[in-house]
Amino acid sequence: MSEPDDLLRVEQIAASYNHSIAALHKVSFSLKPGQVRALLGANGAGKTTTLRAVANLLSGQRGAVTSGKIFFDGLNVLELSPSKLVRAGLASVLEGRHVFKSLSIEENLIVGGLARGSRRSELASDLDRIYALFPSLVAKRRISAGLTSGGEQQMVAIGRALMSRPRLLILDEPSMGLAPIIVKSIFETLRSLNRNDGLTILMAEQNAAVALRYADQATVIQNGVDVLSDTAEALRQSDYIKEFYLGSELPFAPKSRTPAPPKTSAASVDHSSIAAE
Ligand SMILES: Nc1ncnc2c1ncn2[C@@H]1O[C@H](COP(=O)(O)OP(=O)(O)O)[C@@H](O)[C@H]1O
Ligand SMILES: [Mg+2]
Repeated sequence: MSEPDDLLRVEQIAASYNHSIAALHKVSFSLKPGQVRALLGANGAGKTTTLRAVANLLSGQRGAVTSGKIFFDGLNVLELSPSKLVRAGLASVLEGRHVFKSLSIEENLIVGGLARGSRRSELASDLDRIYALFPSLVAKRRISAGLTSGGEQQMVAIGRALMSRPRLLILDEPSMGLAPIIVKSIFETLRSLNRNDGLTILMAEQNAAVALRYADQATVIQNGVDVLSDTAEALRQSDYIKEFYLGSELPFAPKSRTPAPPKTSAASVDHSSIAAE
């Protein structure tokens, strides 16, 4: 599966919390430079845990990777502190668009630049770049981030991560709780960063419809196991994905009981037995 030119390689990781709760059993995937991969799955499947593992942030949650390996640009992620990973080019927007609520929008962005060790002149040009990506932040740059809308806070959280000039951006549920028009605007911005700047993106999304529209590849996680990986295009056509992740019953969440998916690639499998259940 993995090749030497992968920017990120996750090899058969297992992870648990508090030395007991097993959250991940076996998750593998890889990302080449410039790719966008979505992690799909029901609530509790292990998407957030996987992202925390990739940013080496599990210990802050009393969790740990118990087996398997993760490489970012050839570096052993599990041996590097989260701040070293940021400096190496891996930035994350986790835990529901966390912003420093009492700091202004601009101060929040500057914090992201300082995490990388940016100089004054670099900070100024990087701020200009973020405001160009998210023009609605300009007029509110002096306002406390806590007083802005959910969409603006998400833009601040993404902007702060971009201030560290990442090569890989990790996003946990960027669409969560946001109006469709804001979701569209944020995903269009992410797409332009990917296409124009070659930014590699790994995102977890319960909103499979949106994720599969913007991702190149996707991996479905069920109960801590990667059960299906394919191109986003193949997964959009897959009856299994249509039935259990793009269903109309719960537009933004998969149904709670999802059966085992086909073992081979989504495009080449007969799903009639699954659909009939
Ligand atoms: N901080 C935590 N402490 C203990 N258990 C956790 C913690 N975070 C997640 N879990 C558990 O790990 C499993 C996977 O959760 P999570 O990675 O958050 O899934 P998802 O992001 O797909 O909803 C769940 O059983 C969840 O209850
Ligand atoms: Mg989650």
